[in-house]
Amino acid sequence: MTQSTLHVAIIMDGNGRWADRRGLPRFAGHRSGERALRGVTKAASRQGIGTLTVYAFSADNWKRPPAEVRALMFLLETHLAKEMDMCRENGVRLSVIGRRDRIPEGARLAIEEAERITRGGSQLHLRLAVDYSSRDALVEASKCLANDGDRSRFAAELDSPDVDLLIRTGGEKRLSDFLLWECAYAELYFTPVLWPDFNEDDLTEALADYSKRQRRFGGLIEKADPRLAAGV
Ligand code: IPE
Ligand code: IPE
Ligand code: MG
Repeated sequence: MTQSTLHVAIIMDGNGRWADRRGLPRFAGHRSGERALRGVTKAASRQGIGTLTVYAFSADNWKRPPAEVRALMFLLETHLAKEMDMCRENGVRLSVIGRRDRIPEGARLAIEEAERITRGGSQLHLRLAVDYSSRDALVEASKCLANDGDRSRFAAELDSPDVDLLIRTGGEKRLSDFLLWECAYAELYFTPVLWPDFNEDDLTEALADYSKRQRRFGGLIEKADPRLAAGV
């Protein structure tokens, strides 16, 4: 089966508020967020999404208290180790985008191992954005350009497909330095659902909403995305 080209990106926001509302420490929100990611990954591979890019930790998230950062890096490491069977069973190829040099060694080794183990996955490409900044990625990619800057060469250097649907949970309506170039013509979907509560039904709802959008890319053709006709 050929992999779908549909690219969905998710800003997984609202873990802290989810915990606050329950009188729990923020870490509990991140742990529940990790469970939500497992469910959404499985659902995405079932629902015909080709690439799923999720924002797990931004370059600006280093500003958070050291204890929270440590907890997030610990969760990343354990998530990667735990989810390998799920990835293999669901045909998931996992890769991590963002800087690697500031990631603690344990998590960095877990990333390398997960990428190696899952490289044969052909159903869904799951990209975890960790220590990621879209502005930094753009600056890096621009270094390859001579004065005759060409869009397609630049995009190839960026090595990140255009986003079809961008979902942000948690109610905020901003991009927070995520996939700025890739979202040039993305359909945007903002939901108040906090990330730990986001499940397969919410994903289905977002895809159903997306399937009704008319994408024109600056032209006049008004057509729903045919890639969704069979699935959603
Ligand atoms: C998203 O949840 C996870 C990360 C940014 C690492 P938050 O931790 O931002 O949760 P809120 O926005 O404070 O509720
Ligand atoms: C964006 O959420 C980053 C991730 C979800 C990983 P933030 O909570 O860091 O974003 P802001 O600060 O509300 O813009
Ligand atoms: Mg937040």
